[in-house]
Amino acid sequence: MPASTTLSSQQWISKDKTSLSPSYTRDFPLVVSHALGMHLYTPEGKQYLDFGAGLAVCSTGHRHPKVQAAIEAQLNKVWHVSSSDYYEPTQILLAETLKRLTPWLGEDATVYFGNSGAEATEAALKLARFHTQRPAVVSFDRGFHGRTFGAMSLTASKPHYQEGFAPLVPQVFHAPYPYPFKDAISGIDAETSTNQCLTYIEETLFQQIAPAETIAAFVVEAIQGEGGYIVPPDSFLLGLQAIARKHGILVVCDEVQSGVGRTGKFWACQHVEGFEPDVILSAKGLASGLPLCAVIARGGVMNWQEGSHASTFGGNPLACASALATIELVEQSLAENASIIGEMVLKPALEALQQAFPHHIGDVRGRGLMFAIELVENGTEPSSSKQEKVLQGLFEAGIVAVGCGCNSIRFCPPLVVEAHHCEQMITNLCTVLKSLNC
Ligand SMILES: Cc1ncc(COP(=O)(O)O)c(C=O)c1O
Repeated sequence: MPASTTLSSQQWISKDKTSLSPSYTRDFPLVVSHALGMHLYTPEGKQYLDFGAGLAVCSTGHRHPKVQAAIEAQLNKVWHVSSSDYYEPTQILLAETLKRLTPWLGEDATVYFGNSGAEATEAALKLARFHTQRPAVVSFDRGFHGRTFGAMSLTASKPHYQEGFAPLVPQVFHAPYPYPFKDAISGIDAETSTNQCLTYIEETLFQQIAPAETIAAFVVEAIQGEGGYIVPPDSFLLGLQAIARKHGILVVCDEVQSGVGRTGKFWACQHVEGFEPDVILSAKGLASGLPLCAVIARGGVMNWQEGSHASTFGGNPLACASALATIELVEQSLAENASIIGEMVLKPALEALQQAFPHHIGDVRGRGLMFAIELVENGTEPSSSKQEKVLQGLFEAGIVAVGCGCNSIRFCPPLVVEAHHCEQMITNLCTVLKSLNC
């Protein structure tokens, strides 16, 4: 074993600071030397309960034995095949599986594989432009789609994602997305909010750009992730789809964070009856932590030409084998677990805390194992300092959670989470909330 593996967390952090890009956020001094199931471990052996799942990535928990076995079996077959040049069975099997999981896209749906959420967005951007031969794309306020140039241009969740990187990709427009908690504070109900957002598109945006000639796609999250775990009214997604159909605009649904069983259904968009996006973007939880993304498009949409889009590592066989095992587990039991634990344990417990601390928690929202609390002053005003304090308090108690929006905290544990893990997290959250002095 190399001597460096015996370093302490502090020593690793000092070394990291001199060698890694300062663009990494690093909210906590947590060095993970290994992980298993629901837990992360430091070099000193300190255990953390993981309610972040590596940012909604480790869907089956850390090193799930069935996923590990599938990766190990693939290790003994082949590690890399250039998918630009040759055929590879795990990719084909995974593409067939993803088609089965998106039946509304038709039997002639096709799948493109890359390595990350941002790559999925980039692929969708190119695909939408090529397929429609239109230049513009509309994404939404507070949306997050990644940090590469195209994806960053669509992203609108925080100013620093774009600051200093101009010029961005041209012809990207942003439209409003409902925010039920804030809307309610302003006395706006769900229906009015939906109407306002859709009216902006049809009456303001369409005054600036001719939809049928210019707009290739709406790129929308079924539930906003980084933006604050915001669940829009069904009528917003359905209304958006109706506008898109009217003008031949593609609906691209970014399920990078919300997909693969996290919300209790395989895709979050499936909670909205009648919402059938033309393109689905998947990444994060798809391969339980190995890098993989998939773009799944309605039949006929991927009419781009040979060589026009590909990636050397996209659809890596180890990642595809991991994804096949992940999907099997999600379909067998984990999506159901997300629904049961999320809706019957996590949600009521968070709502009980909201009732106990209405001056701290303004809102509890989400679906399945994609839940957030919004921290406030006086019940309504956003409090980013409380967000920081609560995250810090949880961390000190050995619990990892993640911020989202400006003042919310997301709980997106691995889908193997059990009731007792939630109870442990909630007990600690309660203690932290009690300790906030105001
Ligand atoms: C909805 C959504 N889309 C895209 C991305 C970008 O994914 P990646 O960080 O893998 O590039 C993220 C990452 O948080 C995301 O939440």
